Amino acid sequence: MSPLRIALLGFGTVGTSVVHRLTRTDAVRDLVLTGIFDRRADVKRLAHPALRGVAWTTRIEDVLVSDADVVVEAAGGLDPASGWIRDALLAGKSVVTANKQVIARDGEHLLRLAARQGRQLRFEAAIGGAMPIVRAVADGLAGDRLTRIVAILNGTTNAVLSRMDATRCSMDAAIRDAQSRGYAEQDPRLDLDGDDARAKLAILCGLAFGLRVTPTDIAARSAASVSLADVEGARRQGATIRQLAYASHDADTSTLTAWVSPVAVPRHSLFGRTTGPQNAALITGAHAGDIGVSGAGAGGDATAVAVISDLLAVARDRAAVVPPLALTTPKCIRGFGGIADFRVQISDCGFQISDSLFAEAV
Ligand SMILES: NC(=O)c1ccc[n+]([C@@H]2O[C@H](COP(=O)([O-])OP(=O)(O)OC[C@H]3O[C@@H](n4cnc5c(N)ncnc54)[C@H](OP(=O)(O)O)[C@@H]3O)[C@@H](O)[C@H]2O)c1
Repeated sequence: MSPLRIALLGFGTVGTSVVHRLTRTDAVRDLVLTGIFDRRADVKRLAHPALRGVAWTTRIEDVLVSDADVVVEAAGGLDPASGWIRDALLAGKSVVTANKQVIARDGEHLLRLAARQGRQLRFEAAIGGAMPIVRAVADGLAGDRLTRIVAILNGTTNAVLSRMDATRCSMDAAIRDAQSRGYAEQDPRLDLDGDDARAKLAILCGLAFGLRVTPTDIAARSAASVSLADVEGARRQGATIRQLAYASHDADTSTLTAWVSPVAVPRHSLFGRTTGPQNAALITGAHAGDIGVSGAGAGGDATAVAVISDLLAVARDRAAVVPPLALTTPKCIRGFGGIADFRVQISDCGFQISDSLFAEAV
């Protein structure tokens, strides 16, 4: 079989790592980079003379009419990225994307389009970096009836909160540290406020429970106000503070409970031990009980692993169909319900939520 020809959209953090994996000494067999689209392709091409034989362009149309088999979308943002993915599928190409925003908003429609076109849309990189949670939920645990997902899904917020705990620094200092290590954007508000985790959790609700959920359906409390005093208070209780994404599904009543919030978790639990830009998830099924996954949740190289894995899946079986999501809208979506704010948990000296949630995860 001829190698899979790949065109990349967006030569930034993730795109650069993908290109390295495709072109350097540990290049992956059967995958060949043929094109790069980027708005600054002219400048970047000059800075990367070693990428000979690659067609650089600033015009998306060049990619659509090219002989690429697969388009890797690593530009980010909702629009125009969503339209590029649609157009690539319509042009007969499979698509691998790292874009949680597009999948959270348009994934259902785009997966249906891909199946109609006889092409694949894969998005392991959109959630959890190298942590293979999309496959775990959609494939590995497809034989169970999943009832709950609790997860750390935002590496930036985790890096900030765990740094405050480890070095007893302020949130501002922890944000500066995360920025200097490349874990945080200039403006980390979307991460701290929970918007990034809500988009990822919405996708997981579709994969795990078959529910149509938009990110704004999910209740959120911001982690931006967590202070060093809060972190110290949690520490005195044997706890530490983490931003958790929580979703549970009661299929009998078609009720989804979903939220993203800072939570005081026992220091020795799976989540308490998850530090820096790591992610972790505890997935509960009616038959298998709890399954934990954790690992590098962000960063170009980690995210490129997920992209390459998706490319290899396409290369292994080019005719495979990624099943479209058969989603229903839940009758009821609950937010926090009776779940207390993390400050109340700490001052009450008991993490009722954490105890029941994490006893199994210690
Ligand atoms: N970074 C991570 O750790 C990580 C982890 C998981 C998933 N992701 C996802 O991966 C995607 C890419 O993230 P990233 O961190 O690699 O972003 P990034 O560093 O900003 O790279 C995006 C690249 O695409 C280019 N681009 C953006 N909009 C464009 C447009 N309209 N036309 C042409 N080129 C455009 C950018 O050009 P400029 O340089 O001119 O802006 C940049 O080169 C996002 O969906 C993100 O959520 C990232």
